[in-house]
Amino acid sequence: MFTTILMFMLSYLIGSLVPGFWVGKIFYNKDIRDEGSGNIGTTNSFRVLGVKAGVTVLVLDLLKGTAAGLLPLLFHSNINPMLVGIGAIFGHTFSVWIGFKGGKAVATSAGVLLAYNPVFFLIIVMIFIAMLAISSMVSLSSMVSFSCAIIISLYYHDLILTIVAISLTIFVFYRHRSNISRIKNGTESTIPFGWYYNH
Ligand code: G3P
Repeated sequence: MFTTILMFMLSYLIGSLVPGFWVGKIFYNKDIRDEGSGNIGTTNSFRVLGVKAGVTVLVLDLLKGTAAGLLPLLFHSNINPMLVGIGAIFGHTFSVWIGFKGGKAVATSAGVLLAYNPVFFLIIVMIFIAMLAISSMVSLSSMVSFSCAIIISLYYHDLILTIVAISLTIFVFYRHRSNISRIKNGTESTIPFGWYYNH
């Protein structure tokens, strides 16, 4: 029990690191929360800070989830990595470093899936890329690929994977409420990150 709580706390702390915010502040002297969508995630880092920062934030946000998912291995625990990874996803979305606010759970959740099942992760990434090619919207592609994760999880006959996929999809939709409104009224940002907020 102690190990489980310790892993969950470590997972939260790893997830609560906010590369999007820190990269913006340290290297660009910008508070990413004040520009673009105001999100501290990968998409807004690309949008506000550029490609180098966007790639850096994507990799770091993803690795946070993967590192958290690998904690059971490190602690020789047989608890499901995705359950531990939930701590990191909460850390990312409600970060202690920025007033319990944070990102939209996409890259860090994907990182947890990578730690748990790399093949499953790759399938979801391919769906994301296909959706991005069709729609040019990162938000829509994120929501569609998480929704597909529910269906694909059924082929694995893995109850925890399906429950986590359903929970994450609901959470990701919840975190994308503002994007959903913009998609509905045709003002959602499209790549290459032209953005139309306030226009
Ligand atoms: O990862 C978040 C993405 O799906 C949307 O980000 O900045 O366009 O709201 P953003």
